[in-house]
Amino acid sequence: ITVSIDAADAEKGTFPFYMLKEVSEQPAVMRRLISRYVDQAGAPQFDQAMLEALASADRLYIVAAGTSYHAGLVGQSLFEQLAKVPTEAYLASEFGYHQPLLSAKPMFIFLTQSGETADIRQVLVNVKQAGYPSLTLTNVITSTLAREADYAVELAAGPEIAVASTKAYTAQVAVEALLAKALGMVKQVPAAAAFDVAHQLSLAATGQQALIDQQEQLHLLATDMFGKTRNAFFIGRGTDYFVSLEAALKLKEISYVQAEGFAAGELKHGTIALIEQDTPVVAFITDPVTAARTRSNAEEVEARGAKVLRIASASLAEPGDQVIVDDLDPLLTPLLTIIPGQLLAYFTSLDRGYDVDRPRNLAKSVTVE
Ligand code: G6P
Repeated sequence: ITVSIDAADAEKGTFPFYMLKEVSEQPAVMRRLISRYVDQAGAPQFDQAMLEALASADRLYIVAAGTSYHAGLVGQSLFEQLAKVPTEAYLASEFGYHQPLLSAKPMFIFLTQSGETADIRQVLVNVKQAGYPSLTLTNVITSTLAREADYAVELAAGPEIAVASTKAYTAQVAVEALLAKALGMVKQVPAAAAFDVAHQLSLAATGQQALIDQQEQLHLLATDMFGKTRNAFFIGRGTDYFVSLEAALKLKEISYVQAEGFAAGELKHGTIALIEQDTPVVAFITDPVTAARTRSNAEEVEARGAKVLRIASASLAEPGDQVIVDDLDPLLTPLLTIIPGQLLAYFTSLDRGYDVDRPRNLAKSVTVE
């Protein structure tokens, strides 16, 4: 098999690291996904047989690892809200050895940037043996997991070279939204009809660009928040919790700061004991339903000395919030909030003099279990 990669796509150009280049490409990826998957009338178009298979499933199991798993968590809400099908995201490395009791008609969605992760492949092999339908969402359409699943959909993010995944994450969330909308239309779910996915993704592209344009301020915030720290917390509720997990993973991977993504409401049940003078805490506030509660959790840690950085949606912003993201459907805000998450990690790694693209102990694609 030969994989054709556009040479310009794989070049760093004027960027000091691939990671910054790939972060900067996210608005273009959003627009590419709209033109690739959405027709003139605004309806997402996918293989009909694949949509029928999805529509006949009584439950979707999303199986993934690392960053892709975090995109899968966002996907749960998208499929449940827009297509009204119960959906669960699982870590591939756990699913392989501790398979949950499956529903009567399950369908499996494998989320994987590389399409080569061994933990995921092990699950796919078992799923195929059992005769269940499978779909791989991947950035590498010629990969093992794309070839071996019944159906495959391309993330079209372009080659991702930096070990820390960035544009593949936002592409996964966007493709999940497109698929969930398409499935919801097949199933005639009113919420899907009301969800203008192309418009949302185009707003996301604009909002991402605005955040990328603020990278100098984000660098200052990164130096202030994480310059000297050995640990950090990212908090939020619902979708903001899922993005907290991914933002914490970014910081861990490339700057070696011990970072934890935490459900804001769980802090008081133990973790708040770790808050000391100047402990950095990043709070994501993008959902009107949870905003007030997350804000009060942020105040609780602030009262105990934490240094808090608030990342809020424009319509929910309050004086003192340091990063404002554009308004977007609450299901899709990770497309925006992860940008400061990625850039804070990037600049922390840069400040510390690390090789941002090639962090210690990590591989881009892990082909052993
Ligand atoms: C490795 C990479 C991670 C990635 C994970 C899953 O651990 O270092 O960045 O998220 O694999 O990779 P996949 O290619 O399956 O998305």
